[in-house]
Amino acid sequence: MHSRYQTLISKAIEALQFSYAPYSNFKVGVALITNTEKIYTGSNIECASYSLTICAERVAYAKAISDGENNFKAIAIANDKNEISFPCGACRQFMMEFNSDVKIILAKSLKVYKIYELKELFPKNFTLNE
Ligand code: THU
Repeated sequence: MHSRYQTLISKAIEALQFSYAPYSNFKVGVALITNTEKIYTGSNIECASYSLTICAERVAYAKAISDGENNFKAIAIANDKNEISFPCGACRQFMMEFNSDVKIILAKSLKVYKIYELKELFPKNFTLNE
């Protein structure tokens, strides 16, 4: 039986196939589950003008938010190197814009993963409201 997290991880691994990463050859796939139980996948999208690259995490968030969802339970993150990799600082700030208790599931494989809460990975985000 797959745990709930394993279901999310398997969708993140599936999303690797849509990664467009010809420059870094580092494919990232994610699956984001909302509080309303919808799942949005994302993959990194690179650009010849490198800095225009969009990380997989922000792709999934943009899909969800533009679909009217803005409260998230968890995001599973996988890559094609079968290693755990943490979300970049820009994505941490971006995700902090929404609920900071979202679970970040870093998958090495379907069964080997680590779980953090976003706020522990990014405790001091920039905000205009302090
Ligand atoms: N990347 C992501 O998609 N998510 C991360 O959390 C870190 C990095 C992508 C950006 C780029 O396409 C490739 O990984 C190598 O940096």
